[in-house]
Amino acid sequence: MPKIELKGLIKRYGDVQVLHGIDLTMADNEFTVLVGPSGCGKSTTLRMIAGLESVSDGDIYVDGKRISHLEPKDRGLAMVFQDYALYPHMNVAQNISFALRLQKVAKSDIDKKVKEVADLVGLTSFLHRKPGALSGGQRQRVAMARALAKDSDIFLFDEPLSNLDAKLRGQMRAELAIMSQRVQKNMIYVTHDQVEAMTLADRIVVMNGGYIQQQGTPEELFKRPANKFVAGFLGMPPMNFLDGEIEHRDGAAFVVGEGFALRLAGEKAQIAATHSNKAVTLGIRPSDLNFAADTPEDQSLTLDVMVSEYIGAQSVLMCSCGSNRVTVEVNSETPMALGETLRFEVNLNRVHLFDRQSGEALRRL
Ligand SMILES: Nc1ncnc2c1ncn2[C@@H]1O[C@H](COP(=O)(O)OP(=O)(O)OP(=O)(O)O)[C@@H](O)[C@H]1O
Ligand SMILES: [Mg+2]
Repeated sequence: MPKIELKGLIKRYGDVQVLHGIDLTMADNEFTVLVGPSGCGKSTTLRMIAGLESVSDGDIYVDGKRISHLEPKDRGLAMVFQDYALYPHMNVAQNISFALRLQKVAKSDIDKKVKEVADLVGLTSFLHRKPGALSGGQRQRVAMARALAKDSDIFLFDEPLSNLDAKLRGQMRAELAIMSQRVQKNMIYVTHDQVEAMTLADRIVVMNGGYIQQQGTPEELFKRPANKFVAGFLGMPPMNFLDGEIEHRDGAAFVVGEGFALRLAGEKAQIAATHSNKAVTLGIRPSDLNFAADTPEDQSLTLDVMVSEYIGAQSVLMCSCGSNRVTVEVNSETPMALGETLRFEVNLNRVHLFDRQSGEALRRL
């Protein structure tokens, strides 16, 4: 039985519909990440699960039981918000145990629980400090510990790391991954950060404009994006998109566009065989272009290197191919001068073909 199920979830604010039928099934102990750009409906979805927003249409089930009509406190969920919402006059231990004290849990049990969750999030030596005397990351941990103390088996997180600086964010992300493996609970995590989504999720749900665009494992979505939106949203630097047409010459399938004619291979050639003369958008990830001067023309792009950004082991090159902009990721040891026109081999096993009109990934007809 699925742990959590959303069926045809719809949200309207007055005349404005912001969620258009969200269908989602989460297996037990899955770490699910809802990711998408600002305003796509992630928080609304999460808050409907928590019971903080009403459901306009559709239903929510936990363990096969409908919970959409229940009060938040009766849903047995624990939620961690972006702003932590800690009580400033209480110390860490009191913040963590607040809900348990309200429930009149025995003091010895509370002490045991506080110790256990503080240990889990690395707060043992801070139990007597007030939130004002903690760093952002430590406060974040208190919020996490307070949720864990609730003994719920479903945790909801809404952008819990977004107030932290980049370095701390990376550190907390790793700790969260370790913690979630240790506690083995159901996590639904909302973020607009694709790196967080890729690194934390068992299952990613990409949303846009109140619709689910695609769901699957990080690897499935990265390797087989269902449409141009998902392809461009996951991966940094983002995928390059070049307009072209599918043409067949001498029994081979090509994508032909401004300044390039690439001979498709393998599965992509088979797909293209069923789409003659179709207007497509070719997707190439920056890491699937390799500097190789002697590559045959039908396997390469000839690019003018305009800007090179050194980012350590890698350099990101901003190039042009006719009027197209193309980003390339190269080993920063690669000797390269700005203004040069160079040939880059395209990893043709990893290119993506999208219908130029609909943006959907091309399938074999
Ligand atoms: N109370 C409200 N009344 C009207 N519209 C609302 C209300 N709350 C949210 N919305 C709209 O619903 C849409 C989805 O909002 P939501 O907060 O779910 O987005 P989000 O994906 O969490 O974005 P962000 O990444 O910025 O937090 C937005 O267009 C927002 O303007
Ligand atoms: Mg939000």
